[in-house]
Amino acid sequence: MKPEDSEAATVAAVDAAALQDEALAALGCAATPAEVGELRTRYLGRKSDLKQALRNVRDRDTGMTLNAVRERLEAAFAEREAELERAALDVALATDGFDVTLPGDELAVGTLHPVTQVRRIVEDAFLGLGYEVRDDREVETVEYNFDKLGFAPTHSSRSPRDTFFLDHDTVLRTETSPSQIHHLESRTPPVYMVSIGRVYRRDAITPTRFPIFHQFEGLAVDRGLTLADLKGTLLHVMRALFGPQRRVRFRTHFFPFTEPSMEPDVSCPICDGAGCRTCKHSGWIELGGSGMVDPVVFQNVGLDAEEWSGFAFGCGLERSAQLRHGISEIRPLWSPDLRVLRQF
Ligand code: DAH
Repeated sequence: MKPEDSEAATVAAVDAAALQDEALAALGCAATPAEVGELRTRYLGRKSDLKQALRNVRDRDTGMTLNAVRERLEAAFAEREAELERAALDVALATDGFDVTLPGDELAVGTLHPVTQVRRIVEDAFLGLGYEVRDDREVETVEYNFDKLGFAPTHSSRSPRDTFFLDHDTVLRTETSPSQIHHLESRTPPVYMVSIGRVYRRDAITPTRFPIFHQFEGLAVDRGLTLADLKGTLLHVMRALFGPQRRVRFRTHFFPFTEPSMEPDVSCPICDGAGCRTCKHSGWIELGGSGMVDPVVFQNVGLDAEEWSGFAFGCGLERSAQLRHGISEIRPLWSPDLRVLRQF
């Protein structure tokens, strides 16, 4: 007997209806997608009776019957498989408690400390004006912290009661103003710089005072600078810090390294100048110190005060942050309590 003859015998033996019933019954018992896969191989695979029968079909009717069975079985397998996969997912969702449609765990992302926020605003405002940003030493010599800035030998800040002395000639800087000297000694004018960092004073901790705080210090030295340039520069920074409606005014004052010296006020950002508790009902907030660079400073760094002119200013960062966020005390800014910091 030739091989074809034996196959022909198999074809003859295939009862299409019985085969379909058997396959559907088996499929009804399949409990997992994997079992469906095995049955698919058995009933529809290359070596299955149905495929072999189809391969050997000789007449049209048998071919149509077998193809109809194949199509029906393929559809039934696909349907059962999808059904079982859905059921498996439902079980997984119920038992693993994992629902892909739920929002993910929130990441604990921190925020910048209010003083850092203010520092960056100040830096950006000055970079926008073409200023160089400077970072200086916090341990300073008496010479740079006081002498070269024109502090009188009897000035009260020179006392160890006001200032932290490390030894006779060394202090924790009491202000960022020594940066003016460092900058002028390392550059040739014109210079435009802002120096930002920590300063130290021997103050007791009170609601409004802290022995460590931050200042930003600006210095511009060029030909023909006037008080109007100083005022415009401060106005630019104050508007960056406290909003475009701010106005700036000057009150005369005294600082050893500026002449004339001015204390700049900014119109109160809380009440917009109408008067409130924060501005003590004056409509204005005092910001720090400023003025035109004193000729003695030019002399101390070897510059000709006839040729060069300049202005300088210094303001507290904590104070700026307090005003910006309406924080009435300085102490929360140094508190490690995250409930405080999370508010900003
Ligand atoms: N250094 C001064 C202080 O801490 C503030 C100051 C006043 C800075 C006048 C300046 C200035 O640059 O010109 O009180």
